[in-house]
Amino acid sequence: MSLFNVYPLFDITPVKAKDIYVFDSNNIKYLDLYGGHAVISIGHSHPEYVKRISEQVNTLGFYSNSIQNPMQVELSEKIENLSGCKDYELFLCNSGAEANENALKLASFHNSRKKILSFKNSFHGRTSAAVAATDNPKIVAPINAQQDVEFVALGDLEAVKKVLEKGDVCAVIIEYIQGVGGLDESTTAFYQGLSKLCKTYGTLLIADEVQSGFGRTGDFFAFQKHNITPDIISMAKGMGNGFPIGGILIHPSIKASFGLLGTTFGGNHLACAASLAVLEVLENEKLMQNANTISEYFVSKAQELPKLKSIKGRGLMLGLEFDFPIAELRKSLIFKHHIFTGAAKNPNLLRILPPLTITKAHVDVFIDALKLELKNI
Ligand SMILES: Cc1ncc(COP(=O)(O)O)c(C=O)c1O
Repeated sequence: MSLFNVYPLFDITPVKAKDIYVFDSNNIKYLDLYGGHAVISIGHSHPEYVKRISEQVNTLGFYSNSIQNPMQVELSEKIENLSGCKDYELFLCNSGAEANENALKLASFHNSRKKILSFKNSFHGRTSAAVAATDNPKIVAPINAQQDVEFVALGDLEAVKKVLEKGDVCAVIIEYIQGVGGLDESTTAFYQGLSKLCKTYGTLLIADEVQSGFGRTGDFFAFQKHNITPDIISMAKGMGNGFPIGGILIHPSIKASFGLLGTTFGGNHLACAASLAVLEVLENEKLMQNANTISEYFVSKAQELPKLKSIKGRGLMLGLEFDFPIAELRKSLIFKHHIFTGAAKNPNLLRILPPLTITKAHVDVFIDALKLELKNI
């Protein structure tokens, strides 16, 4: 049987990884500035993470959501403490798309509306409502297109108002820093205005923190810089450092009832162990502070680069926008310099999403490689 061929693959086969390095089947060592697409938060195979998951699988790996699971309670308390998001409630699932799907569904249950407002260049996942709220017609199948979604430009508060004032929008879903789209971000004035409009017109505000959450931007969540209170916050990638886990934080104004949401695998014991280990390491190793320190250093070094148009993003969710398409540069970085980076919908933008354990020495290696390559372009 062959594999359903949906991924354009680099011809590299990782067989092991440690902290910020990945080793392939030829024992070549790669500097991982991609973090497996913003997933590796506390570093590959962190000893505390390995220990916690190993111990858990040796005792109880899984049981369903029909029994008491104190690990879910422990996880909710730990997220509350570290994020400072007080009094929200936690529902656990398995991925980013599933988190957003549940967020949208819950909003619709709450206010009995069905229209979604989303933003141009957004990405929210590939499930039914999440993909319909994603600004990429190529991945929206006819079965998804039946959803009622309007897209407006990020930053256009007037356009948001025109849609919301009709009174039929169930939720606004937004990435405070766009990931796949290319690291674009609006202003605090826009985000606060958006939050106010949502309240005025009875629309729920969903913060998609799937990529930006769990410390990646130097704050626990990217929206926190703007001093707003979303109704629902979705999380996934960095949450399990590679173990599949997602979740939503739900404001207490939204009430739970039996059967409203559900999942077989979501919030299982092993997934909780993985996420608890992530939170403990984030806290003990002060990785959010590190994200800020290294980000500052990265930006100061990157400013010296030729052919650079702009530096986008925050913390360790960064983008280098050049004045040429970066596809070949990215390949040279991988195959000549053994450095993984990411691409975006914006063809000129190189994405930097390393483990939050990265040091200044790693940044130096990357900048030197980049300078060498830029000489040839
Ligand atoms: C902002 C955002 N939301 C949702 C998703 C979907 O997450 P998943 O691939 O885990 O379903 C992604 C994935 O890249 C994302 O970046």
